[in-house]
Amino acid sequence: MDYKRSEKEKEYLIKAIDSSDRQFIIISPDFEVIAANTYTMQLLGTDIIGKHCCEIFYEKSTTCESCPALSVIKTHKPSLRFKKEDVLSDDFRTCRYSYPIMSGENLEAIALFTFNRPTIEEIEEKLKRANAFLRNLILSSVDGVIAADMKGKILIFNDAAVEIGGYTIDEAINTLNIRQIYPGDGARDIMRHLRSDEYGGKGKLKSFRVDVLRKDGQIIPICLNAAIVYEGDKEVATIGFFHDMRDELKIKSDLEKTHVKLLQAEKMSALGKLAAGVAHQLNNPLGGITLFAKIIMEEYELDPLVKSDLERILNEAKKCSDTVKELLEFARQTSNLIRPHDINSAINRTMFLLENQALFQNIKITKHFDDTIPQVYVDIQQMNHVFMNIILNAGQAMDGKGTLTIRTSMSNDKEKVCIEIEDTGPGISEDIAAHIFDPFFTTKEEGKGTGLGLSIVYSIIEDHKGSIAVKSKPGEGATFIIELPISHQGEKGGQTT
Ligand SMILES: Nc1ncnc2c1ncn2[C@@H]1O[C@H](COP(=O)(O)OP(=O)(O)OP(=O)(O)O)[C@@H](O)[C@H]1O
Ligand SMILES: [Mg+2]
Repeated sequence: MDYKRSEKEKEYLIKAIDSSDRQFIIISPDFEVIAANTYTMQLLGTDIIGKHCCEIFYEKSTTCESCPALSVIKTHKPSLRFKKEDVLSDDFRTCRYSYPIMSGENLEAIALFTFNRPTIEEIEEKLKRANAFLRNLILSSVDGVIAADMKGKILIFNDAAVEIGGYTIDEAINTLNIRQIYPGDGARDIMRHLRSDEYGGKGKLKSFRVDVLRKDGQIIPICLNAAIVYEGDKEVATIGFFHDMRDELKIKSDLEKTHVKLLQAEKMSALGKLAAGVAHQLNNPLGGITLFAKIIMEEYELDPLVKSDLERILNEAKKCSDTVKELLEFARQTSNLIRPHDINSAINRTMFLLENQALFQNIKITKHFDDTIPQVYVDIQQMNHVFMNIILNAGQAMDGKGTLTIRTSMSNDKEKVCIEIEDTGPGISEDIAAHIFDPFFTTKEEGKGTGLGLSIVYSIIEDHKGSIAVKSKPGEGATFIIELPISHQGEKGGQTT
C-alpha cells in the first residue's frame, strides 16, 4: 500500500497500542525485543528492549517449543500458540498471538501480543457444568436411556430405564450386560440392524419395535431409537432411547374395542329403524288375514279339510305376528318402565317358566346366587326377555342335556351386578361369536330361529347402560356375562321410553 501516514496518524497509532491493557511486543527474527507497548513495560520493566524474549517471559535462554514466533518464521503466516497440553499446564494464561511484519519477501520482525484466556479452574467449572447439564438431560429423559460399551457393559442407565427394566442403576451398571435386556437373540438382531443401512442409516436405528425383558421376566413392548457411537471409524459404544409402548398399545386396543362397539350400536340403530318400518307395514295386513280367516271359520259351515287349512293360515299368521312383535321390541317401540328389581328373583321367575318345558327336563340347573347384591334399576319385562333368550339358547345349544349354571355377583369395583349364564353345549367358535349379536344371524335350521334373540338382548342391555359378552372355547360350552350398573339413569324414578 502506498499510503503515507501523517505524523499525527502515527502518533495515534502508537497511543492506541500504548493504551491497550494487553502486552504488545515486536521481536526480531532472532527473538530480540525491538519494541514494546507501555503496558508491557510497566509489567516487565523498561530494560526489556534488546533482550531475548524467552529470557523475559520464561527466564530461559532457549526458545520455547511452542513459541508461535517459530511458526511465523517458518511460514510467514500468523500463528496462535495453543497446544492441547497447554490447557493442563500452568503456563497457558498468556497465550501469544503472533504475526509477521514483512518487508517485501523478507520477514522483518514479528509482532506478539497476549490476550487473556480463561483459567484452568474456569474451564474445569464450565466443563463440569456442561457435563452436569448433559447428565441431567439424560437422567430426566422420559424415555429410558441405556448406553453400553461394545462388550455390553452398561455405561448409562437412567431412571426411566430403571422403570422399564426393573433393575436399580447400581445393578445395571455393575452386573447387567446389555444382551440380558433383550429376550433371546434380540441384542444380536439389534446390532445387525444398527450396522445395516436400512433402518435409518448406518449406525442408526429409528423407531424400531422391540421387546425388552424386565428383571421379573415380564416382556415390555418398546419403540427403540438407537445409535452406535464411533471414535473415528471404531465402534466404541451403543446408546438406545427406549420408549415404553404399553400405554399407547392399551389406548389403541381400547379404541379398537370402542370402535367395534360403536359399529355394533350403529348397526343396531339402523336395523332397528328398518325393522320398525317393516313391522308396522306387516301389522295391518296380518290383522286383516287373521280377522277374515276367523270370520270365514265362524260364519260358514265348512268342510273339515277347509277348516284345517284355515286353522293352518291362522297359525302361520300368529307366527308372523309374533315375529312382528319381536321386531317391534327390537326397535324399542314398546315402553320401558325402569324400577328397582331384584335380579335373583327375576332369574328365578324365568327359570320357573322354563323348567317345565320339555327342553329342560334333562338339563341340570345349578344356581350360585349372591344374596347380597343390591336391587338394580331395570325394566323387568325386558330383563325377563334377556334371561329367557339366553337360557333358551343355552338349552337349545345343549340339545336338552347337560348342565346350566347361573351365577350372580357384585363386580370388583362394587358398581355393577354380574350375571353369568354358562352351559355345557358345543360352545361358539370365534367366527360365529363375532356375529351372534347381529340381527337375523342364526345357525339354526330354516324356520327354527329368527336370529333376533341375541340382538334384542344386546340392545336391551345397551339401553340399561350395561354390557354383555360371551366367553367360549369350542367344545367346552359357552358363558354369557352380563353386567348391569347399579346406579342407572332411571334411578331417580324416571320412566324412559
Ligand atoms: N349358548 C350357546 N351356545 C352355542 N351357540 C349359541 C349359544 N347362544 C347363541 N348361540 C349362537 O348364536 C346364534 C344367534 O342366537 P340368537 O339367539 O340371536 O338367534 P337364534 O337362537 O338362532 O334364533 P332365535 O333366538 O330367534 O330363535 C345362534 O344361532 C347360535 O348359533
Ligand atoms: Mg335365540
